[in-house]
Amino acid sequence: MITRQSIRDIHGTVIELPLSVNQEDIIQPDTGLTLLPALIDPHVHFRTPGLEHKENWRTAALAAIRGGYTTVFDMPNTIPPTITKQLLHDKKALINAQLKEVNIPLHYQLFFGADKNHLDEIANVKDEIVGIKVFMGCSTGNLVIDDDESLDKVFRLAAENDLLVAVHAEDEEMMHARKKEFADRKDYAVHSEIRSIPVACAAIQKAIALTKKYRTRLYILHVSSREEIALIDAAKQAGLPVYAETTPHHLFLDTTSYEVLKGKAVVNPPLRTPEHQAALFKAIRQGIIDTIGSDHAPHTLAEKDQPYGACPSGVPGIETTLPLLLDAHSKGLLTLEEIISLTSKRAREIFRMSDNNDIVLVDLNKIYRVTDANLKTKCGWSPYAGRVLRGCPVYTILGGQCYNIA
Ligand code: DOR
Ligand code: ZN
Repeated sequence: MITRQSIRDIHGTVIELPLSVNQEDIIQPDTGLTLLPALIDPHVHFRTPGLEHKENWRTAALAAIRGGYTTVFDMPNTIPPTITKQLLHDKKALINAQLKEVNIPLHYQLFFGADKNHLDEIANVKDEIVGIKVFMGCSTGNLVIDDDESLDKVFRLAAENDLLVAVHAEDEEMMHARKKEFADRKDYAVHSEIRSIPVACAAIQKAIALTKKYRTRLYILHVSSREEIALIDAAKQAGLPVYAETTPHHLFLDTTSYEVLKGKAVVNPPLRTPEHQAALFKAIRQGIIDTIGSDHAPHTLAEKDQPYGACPSGVPGIETTLPLLLDAHSKGLLTLEEIISLTSKRAREIFRMSDNNDIVLVDLNKIYRVTDANLKTKCGWSPYAGRVLRGCPVYTILGGQCYNIA
């Protein structure tokens, strides 16, 4: 049925929404809910194809809706990786079938993986992708561009085809050397030593130099430290088309989390010390950080339970990002305008997306307890389990269809 609903936006203005809703989803008038644009997640790993024991688009779409998201950009480090036009088409067919099964027409776009043997494919797929993903250092999967010649070629081809390059900025060679240096350490916290801040900065400097050379639009994924922020700030001040993303785990977890979370805290780039969290919040206020990507990277509990070295990197995050941000708002750390800018406005601008009418209605005062049992993600755990947060999404509206989250 179609109904009209009166909702207030963040400035208190009443907006009339025509909505197609199920009887049980009807929003009560004067509920005190606040309207935000539905969230865009520019960075997810939904694991199709090949890694569907961790996640698939049926479970991930439910998790996205529950988190207030209606648009996601998926990463190419699947099995096989998304590195040819054919593989891109195969992946889209699988995703479309899975979304149809759960009847959730989630908006999505795909990143194309840069692989040195398939760079000629880039021109063939340029109109079908959101950008090129470059792993400058190895992470989950085998995708990596670890030689300067190939990296140069990616930035040149991207510029020629007016494509954005998204970089996982960690220097492979430096990482290798540090792995040897710390070979006798077996604790999970050594992860932050091996993948140190200079490792990230070296890669960022290289990427920015190539953007200077070719004017390639550069999106720096999961910025985690004060030093990276300084490099990005300087590039922006110099007028380069450089954009920065941070993640919920770099904002809301830190190196002290290893003690409690053990392998669940292992993620690339790694968690940093608390002073870097403060630097990230400051960079958001200053507009140096543009977006937040959940970097939703689910692994099973059994996989994360393994000793350091065998335990894969990555944490799930798409269901908990908005509650964490709203909780930060309740503590005075973020304004609602900043949340909108991080979760939709800047992504729309950077990725040149057209507008849609998707919205999320949030209750700024509702208490949300993160519990593994209530999650929709297939991996079934969250590094934030046990946290009690103030503020959460209540309804997500995708294509005029209202989904009740409660
Ligand atoms: O921790 C990570 N996990 N970082 C990445 O770059 C990849 C991701 C994954 O796919 O598991
Ligand atoms: Zn990622």
